[in-house]
Amino acid sequence: MKYFITGGSGLLGQRLATVAREEDELTLVHNSNPGDDTVKCDITNEKEVHDCVIRENPDVIVHCAAMTNVDLCEDEKEKAYSINGDGTGFLAKSAEEVGAKIIYVSTDFVFDGNRGYYKEDEPVNPLGIYAKSKYDGEVQLQKYSSNWAVARVSVLYGWHERLNFTTWVINELRQKHEINIVVDQINSPTLADNAGEAIFEIARQDKCGVFHTAGNDAINRFDFTRKIADAFDLDESLINPITSESFVQKAPRPRDSSLNVNKVEKELGMKMETCTESLNRMADSE
Ligand SMILES: NC(=O)c1ccc[n+]([C@@H]2O[C@H](COP(=O)([O-])OP(=O)(O)OC[C@H]3O[C@@H](n4cnc5c(N)ncnc54)[C@H](OP(=O)(O)O)[C@@H]3O)[C@@H](O)[C@H]2O)c1
Repeated sequence: MKYFITGGSGLLGQRLATVAREEDELTLVHNSNPGDDTVKCDITNEKEVHDCVIRENPDVIVHCAAMTNVDLCEDEKEKAYSINGDGTGFLAKSAEEVGAKIIYVSTDFVFDGNRGYYKEDEPVNPLGIYAKSKYDGEVQLQKYSSNWAVARVSVLYGWHERLNFTTWVINELRQKHEINIVVDQINSPTLADNAGEAIFEIARQDKCGVFHTAGNDAINRFDFTRKIADAFDLDESLINPITSESFVQKAPRPRDSSLNVNKVEKELGMKMETCTESLNRMADSE
């Protein structure tokens, strides 16, 4: 199968490349950070998207590119909607033109977090600009594509040249720095490799609809951080619990946006890992 992977220079795009099968043919797409063998395509430029997709003629587009800095999206609202919403629409239109399936990577932040452990068919209520613009992407996807899937993930992590929450924690604790971590935000931290495996299964089994391709826990950030310390043999006493009240962030955060992964496990016949399993896998591959 021929895959066109946006966000090919980002964490998930890069990890997808590591879990692909040998027979898979991948085109990794970048915007401002070219890598070995990546193809340039700015997804906010409709003509560029069109020309690039026509030229590559993929069977499946895996759309991971996004403006992912949640707080920056509050300051740069138009840019957030342009990348996360309109860019997704342009890709969906081009996918339709070449008869490709499109799998859009979305977020647990489409939920307001008042309840937690969300199933795929529960009503969304995105809180901030990042969340709203990502949900706009889900809407535009369904408007322009007849062969789509949404893969929602949560607090993505894994080995990558740019830091993510988990690699930042590992770096800080290795340098013996104290870190303050909130106890009152709950998610389903997702190893990018494991999400990538689920995304490839959606493609191979030609599934449509919404899937929660996330980690198999509902865990608060402080407890997750302690698990990171445990998996990497680091000093847990450097991690201080704090509450969101004392840690002001620009964008609103859902209190509990954890995701229920039963549908993925049942329909795709695969296992979504707990964070203990994923962190051990990450430690083993260092
Ligand atoms: N990170 C998380 O915790 C998290 C949580 C929930 C959902 N998600 C979703 O998961 C997906 C993957 O996230 P990630 O953490 O792997 O992302 P990431 O590492 O922050 O990378 C973002 C990617 O988007 C690309 N991009 C940005 N603007 C672009 C544009 N105008 N045209 C083309 N490409 C553009 C970047 O390309 P260049 O670097 O080349 O410019 C980069 O490859 C995203 O859709 C995100 O919304 C992430």
